[in-house]
Amino acid sequence: MSAPERRLATSVLIIGTGGSGLRAAIQLAERGTDVLVVGKRPSADAHTTLAAGGINAALGTMDPGDSWQQHAADTIKESYFLADPTTVRIVTEGAARGIADLDRWGMPFAREADGRISQRYFGAHTFRRTAFAGDYTGLEIQRTLVNRARQLDVAVIDTVYVTRILTRDGVVFGAYGFDIGDGTRYVVHADAVILAAGGHTRIWRRTSSRRDENTGDAFRLAVTAGARIRDPELVQFHPSGLLGPENAAGTLVSEAARGEGGVLRNRLGERFMQRYDPVRMELSTRDRVALAAYTEIKEGRGTPDGGVWLDVSHLPRDTITKRLPRVYQTLIELQMLDITTTPIEIAPTAHYSMGGVWVRPEDHGTGIAGLYAVGEAASGLHGANRLGGNSLIELLVYGRIVGDAAADYSADLDAQPRSAAAVAQARDEVDQVLAADGPENVRSLQRALRDVMTEHAGVVRDETGLRAGLARLDDIEAAEKSIGVHPDLAGFQDLAHAFDLRSSLVAARATVEAALERRETRGCHNRSDFPDLDESLRVNLVWSGPGQVVGEPVAETPVDIAALIKEVSSIGKLVE
Ligand code: FUM
Repeated sequence: MSAPERRLATSVLIIGTGGSGLRAAIQLAERGTDVLVVGKRPSADAHTTLAAGGINAALGTMDPGDSWQQHAADTIKESYFLADPTTVRIVTEGAARGIADLDRWGMPFAREADGRISQRYFGAHTFRRTAFAGDYTGLEIQRTLVNRARQLDVAVIDTVYVTRILTRDGVVFGAYGFDIGDGTRYVVHADAVILAAGGHTRIWRRTSSRRDENTGDAFRLAVTAGARIRDPELVQFHPSGLLGPENAAGTLVSEAARGEGGVLRNRLGERFMQRYDPVRMELSTRDRVALAAYTEIKEGRGTPDGGVWLDVSHLPRDTITKRLPRVYQTLIELQMLDITTTPIEIAPTAHYSMGGVWVRPEDHGTGIAGLYAVGEAASGLHGANRLGGNSLIELLVYGRIVGDAAADYSADLDAQPRSAAAVAQARDEVDQVLAADGPENVRSLQRALRDVMTEHAGVVRDETGLRAGLARLDDIEAAEKSIGVHPDLAGFQDLAHAFDLRSSLVAARATVEAALERRETRGCHNRSDFPDLDESLRVNLVWSGPGQVVGEPVAETPVDIAALIKEVSSIGKLVE
C-alpha cells in the first residue's frame, strides 16, 4: 500500500525554517500573502541559532565616521573582487533598516550605557560595525523572527523533508516531500518557491555545522529544478573550530573572541599572525587567519594534537562572561575547560558556503520562473572571502526583498499549469529510495565523502589532489546505488539521510569541479600549484551539472566605492 499523501496549497512555499526563510515569511505575511514554511529541522533550533558574534550595519553608533559605502568597500575588497557590486550595495545600504526591523520586533541587542546599540570590531572591518547579543546573536535573531512569525500566524511545518521542487516546462508549481516523523508524503502546490535550505559545509569532517545541517540540499534541489550553482568552490574555513571531542569537532569559537582581544599562539608561544598580517594581526581576514593557522600546523609549529592556541585568559573575567558567554559555556560543556584561565586549542573549520544558488541581485530570482533562493543557499555577496557578520545582515535584507518579489510574482500570475507527471516522478523517487535494500550504509558513505573533501578539497588544494578526490567521488556515487534504507519505529530519519547523501554528493562534485577550474589562489581558495591571484580569473564559476562549469564576468566596482578601498598586501598569503 502506498504511503498517505497530504496535498496542500499556498501562494508561496518556503523551504527552510532558519533566519532567511522566516524573514521572507514575515514579509509575505505582512503583505497579506499566503505562505507556508517547511523544513527538516526544528525552527527554534535552526542553524541560524549557531551564528555567534554579530550582524553588520554601518550604524556609526561607536564610530560616527562609518558609512554604508565604507561597509560596501570593505566587503568588495575582502571578497577579492568576486562579490557582485549591486548585491553588496543592496545589503550594505539596506543594513540599517534590517537592524531597525529586528529592534522593532524585540531583538535584545547589546547596548552602551546611554542606550546606543553597541558595535564591536570583527576581522577586516574599517570600523566597529558589528552589532551583537553577547555571542548568541544568531540565537537571539532566530528567537525574534520565530516570535514575529508567530504573531503573524505564519504556518510552519518543521518536520517536512523536501525531496524535489516541482516544475512544468521550466516553471515552478510546488514541491514534494515527506514527514520525517511518520513518513506521510506531501505534495505542496505553490505559485512560487523560496529556497532557504542553507549551504554545504557539513561535507567536510571538521565543520561548524551540526549533523543534519548544511548537507547541500539547496544545491540538489536547485539543480534538479534547472537552476545553477555559483562559486561552489568558495567555502569559508573559519580559523577557530574546536579540535575535540570527536563528535563535536569543528564547533565554532566565535571571532568575537579575537574581536574582544583574544590572541593566537603556536606551540612555541609565538603570536604567529605577526608573520602573516603584522598590521591587522588576529583581526585580519578569515581566509588569512585560517591559512596562517593551517600553515603553522602543517609546518610543525602546531600543538601535538594538530591545532594552535587561542587565548582570552588575559581579558577581564567580566568581559568573557558578558561578551563571550557561549564560548565560555561551550568549552566548559565540551571540554571542561575554563577559558578565563586556559587557552583554547583550535584549528580551521568549514564554516560557510560563500557560493550557492545563482540568483539575480535585484530580487534573488534564480532564472527559473517562480523559484527564488536566499541566505546561505544563495550567492553573490561574499565572493572569495566573507566578512564575519555579513551573513546575518544579508538574510535580513534579502529575506525582505525576496518576500516582496515572491509576493509580486504570485499576485501577477494569470494561471499556473501543474504536471501530474512531475508529481509522479517525485513520488517514484521517494518510493525507490525507500525500497532500497542494498548492503551500503548511508552514514558510512557520508563519512567517506567527508574524508574525501577534507583530504582533497580543504584549506589548500592542488590539481593532483582534486583529481584524486573526483575519482573517489565516482566510487561513492557508485556505492550510493546500493544503499539500504530502513526507517524504523523511531521515524524516517534514514530516508532523510539517504537524500542528504544525494545532496552532499551533488555539492561535493560541484565544489571539486569548480575548484579544479579555479587555477589561482584567491581568498579562501588556496591552490598550492597556482599560488598567485590570476586577474583573468576575476569571474564567478557557474556549475550546472557534472562537467559543466563556465566563467561569468563580475561587474566593475562603482568608482565612489572603489575610492574607499585601501590596498592590502598579499605578502604571506600562501606561504606553503
Ligand atoms: O565567528 C563568528 O562569530 C561567526 C560569525 C559569522 O560567521 O558571521
